[in-house]
Amino acid sequence: MRVDILTLFPEMFRGPFDESIIRRARERDLVSIHVHNIRDYALDRHRVTDDYPYGGGPGMVMKPDPIFAAAEAALAQGEPAPPDRRAIILMTPQGRPFHQHIADELATYTRLLLICGHYEGVDERVREHLATDELSIGDYVLTGGELPAMVVVDAVVRRIPGVLGCPASAAEESITSGLLEYPQYTRPAEFRGWSVPEMLLSGNHGAIARWRREQALLRTAQRRPDLLACAPLTNADRAFLARVYGPDGLARLLAGQPATPVRRDED
Ligand code: ADE
Repeated sequence: MRVDILTLFPEMFRGPFDESIIRRARERDLVSIHVHNIRDYALDRHRVTDDYPYGGGPGMVMKPDPIFAAAEAALAQGEPAPPDRRAIILMTPQGRPFHQHIADELATYTRLLLICGHYEGVDERVREHLATDELSIGDYVLTGGELPAMVVVDAVVRRIPGVLGCPASAAEESITSGLLEYPQYTRPAEFRGWSVPEMLLSGNHGAIARWRREQALLRTAQRRPDLLACAPLTNADRAFLARVYGPDGLARLLAGQPATPVRRDED
């Protein structure tokens, strides 16, 4: 995959892609990441990238011409991608909410171009005639699209086949399974008087798998009942939740509503 990022602050991208899993993925040519300074494509004498909004109002708006020029220059580099395997994404709080399923979809693409917005916004023609998608990383406003672009690239790259050492761990983890992750422990078995649950030391792999599933169900029911409405649950899962939450509680959880346990001994 080739990722191009258009930004007014290319220095911000030093660091996050130079460590750990993303660095290894780049070294192994599973992804290449190219950061372009939009200002380099502002061709007037002062290299202006923003201007006052037509119609008045507070703040400045990013001009369309440097963004289009930067995007066209970036797309002319490297291998072209088939239309259904590429995306031009504007990072904006007005975008559709970023989610694991979007990361998984984008990980199958061969080219991504991310545009980092700034100031009060970006000229509407960028949305209408350049971007193929708009993504928000959450309902809060950041100073620009750079951190959101880093979030999206990180979430996407780790889903490219071969990037993670252990493919099972990605499939098992939180959200991909529709549930939050079960609690994890490592050595020492006792730390400051706090012990690892007996079950995990039992060596009984079937029982451990069941315990982990139940812990994931309890954690999701407690913290994110909204996820349970869409999670693929087995009959055993439903029976377990009915034992802990009672039949009414189970019905609430399956509708994505919070519920109160009727017994606590399963925790
Ligand atoms: N730019 C500023 N805030 C943002 C957000 N929450 N998501 C995406 N881009 C942004």
